[in-house]
Amino acid sequence: MKFDTPATTNPIDQLKIIGKPTDRIDGPAKTTGTARYAYERHSEVPDAAYGWVVGAGIAKGRIASMDLSAARAAPGVRAIVTARSAGPLGKGDFNTAKLLGGPEIDHYHQAVALVVADTFEQARAAAQLVRIDYTRLPGRFDLAAEMGAAKLPEPTPFAGPPETKTGDFAGAFAAAPVQLDATYTTPDESHAMMEPHASIAQWQGDKLTIWTSNQMIAWGVGDVAKTLGIPKANVRLVSPFVGGGFGGKLFVRADALLAALGAREAGRPVKVALQRPLVMNNTTHRPATIQRIRIGATRDGRITAIAHEGWSGDLPGGQAETAVNQTRLLYAGANRLTTTRLAVLDLPEGNAMRAPGEAPGMMALEIAMDEMAHKLGLDPVEFRVRNDTQVDPEQPQRPYSQRRLVECLRTGAERFGWRQRPPAPAQLREGRWLVGMGVAAAFRNNLLTKSAARVRLDSRGVVTVETDMTDIGTGSYTIIAQTAAEAMGVSLDKVQVRLGDSAYPVSAGSGGQWGANNSTAGVYAACMKLREAVASKLGVAPADAQFTNGMVHASGRPVPLAQVAGASGLVAEDGIEYGDLDKKYQQSTFGAHFVEVGVDAVTGEIRVRRMLAVCAAGRILNPKSARSQVIGAMTMGVGGALMEALALDKRHGFFVNHDLAGYEVPVHADIPHQDVIFLEETDPISSPMKAKGVGELGMCGIAAAVANAVYNATGVRVRDYPITLDKLL
Ligand code: MOS
Repeated sequence: MKFDTPATTNPIDQLKIIGKPTDRIDGPAKTTGTARYAYERHSEVPDAAYGWVVGAGIAKGRIASMDLSAARAAPGVRAIVTARSAGPLGKGDFNTAKLLGGPEIDHYHQAVALVVADTFEQARAAAQLVRIDYTRLPGRFDLAAEMGAAKLPEPTPFAGPPETKTGDFAGAFAAAPVQLDATYTTPDESHAMMEPHASIAQWQGDKLTIWTSNQMIAWGVGDVAKTLGIPKANVRLVSPFVGGGFGGKLFVRADALLAALGAREAGRPVKVALQRPLVMNNTTHRPATIQRIRIGATRDGRITAIAHEGWSGDLPGGQAETAVNQTRLLYAGANRLTTTRLAVLDLPEGNAMRAPGEAPGMMALEIAMDEMAHKLGLDPVEFRVRNDTQVDPEQPQRPYSQRRLVECLRTGAERFGWRQRPPAPAQLREGRWLVGMGVAAAFRNNLLTKSAARVRLDSRGVVTVETDMTDIGTGSYTIIAQTAAEAMGVSLDKVQVRLGDSAYPVSAGSGGQWGANNSTAGVYAACMKLREAVASKLGVAPADAQFTNGMVHASGRPVPLAQVAGASGLVAEDGIEYGDLDKKYQQSTFGAHFVEVGVDAVTGEIRVRRMLAVCAAGRILNPKSARSQVIGAMTMGVGGALMEALALDKRHGFFVNHDLAGYEVPVHADIPHQDVIFLEETDPISSPMKAKGVGELGMCGIAAAVANAVYNATGVRVRDYPITLDKLL
């Protein structure tokens, strides 16, 4: 189904099932421990051996020698995979450094060997006997030191051009009566998902199956095939449950590749889970940024000039964190400049994490907006409202498909009791607590990407959906079931959803908050085709058939769908594809975050007291799972604001706090009260679902709202995340 004109009324608009708060259909399996994750495929592969990954002990250099004799002689050892034993490997499209290193070492904990043994303990014990001597080379580990050598990266489909210029920024900024010029920093961060990267690989002849934990099945199939030099048709990836991805599982990593190589060498299935330290240093992370923001405005608070320049680092050939891109779009102003620069660093690979680009970008921009509001003596809500735009400010002929940022801000201010906030900082005290409130805009783009599905109607009247879409804890199973139920006019319990298998049609996958809108639109397209098949079997035009309560009403008596399907059933496959609507319209999601904090006047301890997010993100397919997405994102935003940082050893080039004890994330006790409001909205430009993404929206801006609340409480402006108490004293 080609979607190239705005959506008109369609069966989804009935909203009998879509738009209703609906429990997760995968919830019982997950909460009872019966959902089987990647490492838990005992019934399919009872004879799997265990692999233990050996990570490089240096960040940059070469393996001078590797002695495997003691490890090979250890009990239970079946194979040891190294770059030498594996032979030449190709490189996938989605990893920067090789997933199996040696003799060159590109980064600390790059995998250099996999020890395969009968038991987990034997593999782990034998791995300690692998003796490696390295020749260490100097590496570049410090972004601030490499800033001067940073370059404009190549444009990418996701990031667009590295630099944009509109009007005369320098002239307008110099002439502006009120100016801000400030630099903000965000640290390296780790996804810190609960389930580590894990895979079981099995060869049957030249066919490879990998049960893995992955967000983007088709990307993974492509990369495994390319790396091993085998046809894509010989690779099957299965990932029905993912215990957290956050961008860290967009791509196959060393666990999948090494399990496949280990299984080939050992001649039996092999399972590999990355040890927690390897999750931090072997896989990807969100790279640190340095961001300079300049804003010039008139005395009445109209932005005349805005510039955002961002620096980040990555391995040679890697990518930039595009922290400036939202500044191209969010606020009005005739004179603009944005630049992304990329330095070469010899750290583990930097890549997508929890709203890559916008999340760290908004951490800086939305403090800058708060600082500017203070300089202008304007309420920060009012300053943002005054600089709203309904068009792309770099391309004014391009309107937004929907943009209700102002309504989000106003609704939130009202509901949060914003007027009780003292405009000047450090005014409100409750006992030992200094109390403050902060606001920030939320912004995240809505991406359109094609997505397909297969639907079957059987003789029981059950609709089965198959698509390689993943559910990374986001609720995909549920919204897809709701979509198929609504489109086919059946109840939710008459729908079965099968996800995460490359044997199924290729979907949008889970990333960049594009999963919900695109994957359900693909299921919608397949259901429309199934309705055509039903109508044709009854000899009526599709438009004359109504689907409701498990029956199809055409001419004459309603017929049960089960009966139409008959013994052989009916199958349809289709997908959604997009024209150029997203070129004509800018599609984004908007929100406003409000936060109240208390700061201990003596110790500087910061406690978040309450939070509110107001979101405008198209049709909300399932308010219950959407709310879960947003409160989860807000929680991660508190992590970003107050806790999360990989501690970088700049001498040796690795992340020191490589476990969940040293890498701090918020726990329930840190998050006392959260509210989420969704504005009623449908976006006919986004898809037939009229929905957009919402998960990552909740993550964008929230950290700055916390930072601004800390400033309001204390009068201390911290521009260097995370805001730990030492920075307040
Ligand atoms: Mo998301 S960081 O694009 O999985």
